[in-house]
Amino acid sequence: MIIAIARLQNYRNCSLFRNSKLFQFRGNFAMASSMKAIQIKNTGGVEVLEHVIIERPKITGLTDVLVKNHFAGVNFIDTYHRSGLYKLSLPAIIGREGAGVVEAVGDGVKDIRPGDHVVYVSPSSYAEFTIANSKKVAKVPDGLDLKLAAASLLQGLTAWVMITQSYEVKKDDWILIHAAAGGVGLLLVQLVKNCGAHVIGTVSNDEKAKLAISAGAEHIINYSNQNVVDEVMRITDNKGVHAIYDGVGKDTFETSLACARRLGSLISFGNASGKVPPFEILRLSEKNLKLMRPTLNNYIETEEEFRKSTAELFTIIKEGKLDIKIWKTYKLNDAKQAHLDLEGRKTTGKLILKL
Ligand SMILES: NC(=O)c1ccc[n+]([C@@H]2O[C@H](COP(=O)([O-])OP(=O)(O)OC[C@H]3O[C@@H](n4cnc5c(N)ncnc54)[C@H](OP(=O)(O)O)[C@@H]3O)[C@@H](O)[C@H]2O)c1
Repeated sequence: MIIAIARLQNYRNCSLFRNSKLFQFRGNFAMASSMKAIQIKNTGGVEVLEHVIIERPKITGLTDVLVKNHFAGVNFIDTYHRSGLYKLSLPAIIGREGAGVVEAVGDGVKDIRPGDHVVYVSPSSYAEFTIANSKKVAKVPDGLDLKLAAASLLQGLTAWVMITQSYEVKKDDWILIHAAAGGVGLLLVQLVKNCGAHVIGTVSNDEKAKLAISAGAEHIINYSNQNVVDEVMRITDNKGVHAIYDGVGKDTFETSLACARRLGSLISFGNASGKVPPFEILRLSEKNLKLMRPTLNNYIETEEEFRKSTAELFTIIKEGKLDIKIWKTYKLNDAKQAHLDLEGRKTTGKLILKL
């Protein structure tokens, strides 16, 4: 059968053959091992997101896990991959996290079996099937459904490592969180509040302000019409904050520096408004500031690190200490709209694609 199909490949461009029943048969056979995905061949605006039918990935490595995705999380990093701010080798299926059911595993995978419900951090999740490395695949704990699992992993881990490792938040700290009603923002607000620290959040409109306050922000500054530095200094008796979590980047970097107190920390972890321009390191000496530009990947590089942080995150979620707000669930076909909404600052909380 396989030999016969391989021979038929040679004739597939012949028009006589294309109209024949044999070609129809081959087409049906191909469909059985194909899948829908969102692929980019070039970088650019949302127009480069192409809905394609391509061959399903296959297990080739010892630690491969083939997952039939039910949901893929949408993250700001997907827009950086699409725009070219972060480089991918092309063509590429974008997406960095998903949740679904295991179809098959490589010979070296011991603790994950076909049929398991899993969630993972791995490239190429805007697709019906993804090969993930077992080192970054976690079983979905009882009580958590696949949708919530996909909504919580990447942003939840990011917020968790930021508050425990990038700057360890302490009781009574004053913390400034930019884009406090965003995906990572809403999680940071809750986690920082849970530490007994004071949260000052920034947002761009009143609806986002309400949401950030309901998540635990003590003070909200609308950076569309208020001066953030003045407000932070007023709230903190002119001392400034102990730490700033800044995922907005270019537009807020200078403000963030100005809001830090002496010996403070600026955790610059994203570029939603664009890349932070080159910076004169000597400026940190004005207040003996610490400046960090962390990425989640460097905190979950090893399997042990991934498992530890994931277990801690799931425990917090199961204890009801972290509410994951899903803004909207989009069809895979609507990935363009999801990117437009996220980049257009229309969203709050998490965006999800349903496969
Ligand atoms: N370092 C890491 O490992 C890591 C991991 C995950 C996420 N991140 C970063 O965390 C940040 C948040 O990611 P997310 O997925 O949770 O997104 P998000 O916060 O849900 O969306 C971005 C938010 O940024 C604010 N924003 C300010 N200026 C903007 C502009 N010019 N364009 C677009 N948005 C602007 C908007 O909130 P307002 O309307 O309230 O201003 C917007 O809703 C991103 O920078 C992302 O790259 C980093």
